[in-house]
Amino acid sequence: FDVVDLIRAKRDGRPVDPRAVDWLVDAYTRGLVADEQMSAYLMAVVWRGMTPAELDRWTAAMIDSGERLDLTGVGRPTVDKHSTGGVGDKVSLVLVPLVAACGAAVPQLAGRGLGHTGGTLDKMEAIPGWRADLSAARMRELLAEVGAVIAAAGAGLAPADRRLYALRDVTGTVESIPLIASSIMSKKIAEGTSALVLDVKVGSGAFMTSVDEARELARTMVRIGVAAGVRTEALLTGMDHPLGRTAGHALEVAEAVETLRGGGPADLVEVTVALARVMIDLVAAELGHRSGALHDPAQVLAAGDAFAVWRAMVAAQGGDPDAPLPAASHVETVPAPATGHLHRLDARAVGLAAWRLGAGRVRKEDAVSATAGVRWRVGIGDPVTAGEPLLELHTDDPASVERAREALAGAVEVAATPPPSTPLVLDHIS
Ligand code: URA
Repeated sequence: FDVVDLIRAKRDGRPVDPRAVDWLVDAYTRGLVADEQMSAYLMAVVWRGMTPAELDRWTAAMIDSGERLDLTGVGRPTVDKHSTGGVGDKVSLVLVPLVAACGAAVPQLAGRGLGHTGGTLDKMEAIPGWRADLSAARMRELLAEVGAVIAAAGAGLAPADRRLYALRDVTGTVESIPLIASSIMSKKIAEGTSALVLDVKVGSGAFMTSVDEARELARTMVRIGVAAGVRTEALLTGMDHPLGRTAGHALEVAEAVETLRGGGPADLVEVTVALARVMIDLVAAELGHRSGALHDPAQVLAAGDAFAVWRAMVAAQGGDPDAPLPAASHVETVPAPATGHLHRLDARAVGLAAWRLGAGRVRKEDAVSATAGVRWRVGIGDPVTAGEPLLELHTDDPASVERAREALAGAVEVAATPPPSTPLVLDHIS
């Protein structure tokens, strides 16, 4: 195939030969197609899109660029969750042990954060001793024994995505539904899970700010998953406000542990239980063979069974579930601007403040601070009094506080009455 002909075809909206799609992804991954040529092709995709058949082929080619894990034989049905990312999104830390406690195995290969949303691995690494790297063999053992794994996706999984994502990041070609959907789904399908639930976040703190866009992304990913033989469904969940009461790695681990012990903020419990129910439903037929198990996630969470799995999961990867979490050396507060009810707390601003306090990275090789972050002492709708401490800013770098305060300017709104309560789960795509 001639790459310039392919670029022209995509540019002009003409059909692309399916074999050319395989060739292009493979040739780019092996360095035979230049970055500038792939950049031109990707920009044409941003404008022209892909047909469903072309997108399935593109995703399959990305999966075939590396290895696909084989999780058959772990003795439990496998089901995973992927979130498109939100502020304070510590759902995986509760959900993975919860779904394992319901009898399934959750093989979560996660990433580190870039930008204003934190990555699951960054949060887990706040636990003293915990390590993200696992061999595929050890992962299979832990899935059989504990049922829950959160680990780093190895370099062998969808390597085409690694190259393509880095290129998209610097060429203005991230914002394309087929490119986002194939990037996410290639990694999840290569992970070897038999079922998958997508948590597509919508709102100011999310990648997708409108419900229509989020629904289109969710439908596209569900279709790709089903076409590849992975039972896939999606929930759209709200991300105008950050989730729970904390954003920042160690702060979020502490909040997840509180939730696993049967407490925790109501919004975090609601989203986690809703996702767990969909995950359990997807593997219900296989789970039916395990007699006597308690399957309702809300009951399992309240009974403390998920907490026992959490402890085993943390210990299996070198972590000490009883060790105190690291705490910031410096904590300042932001007062409530008025008396009334907390009406709005802007998720993007909170994410940016946590990032400036040290929780985020600028370049992917940067280290993050485990202790940095933001805690809001009250939830949306709760009463506040002017001048009372509303937000806590945690950091080991006092010089960063001023920049965090700037990020939060205008992010808090207090009104005479609480805002109307809106559902957190906005839609279910199956
Ligand atoms: N997350 C991914 O993994 N890929 C994208 O393209 C966007 C978000």
